Amino acid sequence: MEQDYSKLNAILNSYKGRKGILIPMLQEVQNELGYLSRDTMKYVANFMQIPAAEIYGVATFYSMFRLKPQGKHIVRVCKGTACHVSDADGIKTALIEALKLPDGENTTPDMLFTLMEVACLGCCSLAPVIMIDDTTFGKLVPEMIPGILEKFHF
Ligand code: FES
Repeated sequence: MEQDYSKLNAILNSYKGRKGILIPMLQEVQNELGYLSRDTMKYVANFMQIPAAEIYGVATFYSMFRLKPQGKHIVRVCKGTACHVSDADGIKTALIEALKLPDGENTTPDMLFTLMEVACLGCCSLAPVIMIDDTTFGKLVPEMIPGILEKFHF
């Protein structure tokens, strides 16, 4: 793992000897590093003397943990009911095409975008909806997607 361990060590030291810390500790590690790589999990396991399988089990069970690096921009496509019946699938397909996402990947090779599905974004009257970082786009049709993504190509 090519990284400065000092911040990671400081986080881990602040949890050492405490009980029930696995989830908050991993969240803080993820906040610091962006995601939990296998190397990071092994390092944490060694440092904290916790079985690596236990750490890996928690990290893979909870959806808030990311096991891969994420793109600079997070594209959330809503798959809630209102969006689903308003062609959220078509929007998702348009996103995959416009982002040229390789099969089975949700992050573009240039690390600019990560696509994820989410449940209701809370603005169903605008269905179908996507959110890019903190900006919401609604009443979409697939043809609008390339133009929207263009604004985030930086
Ligand atoms: S279902 Fe998509 S915003 Fe509510």
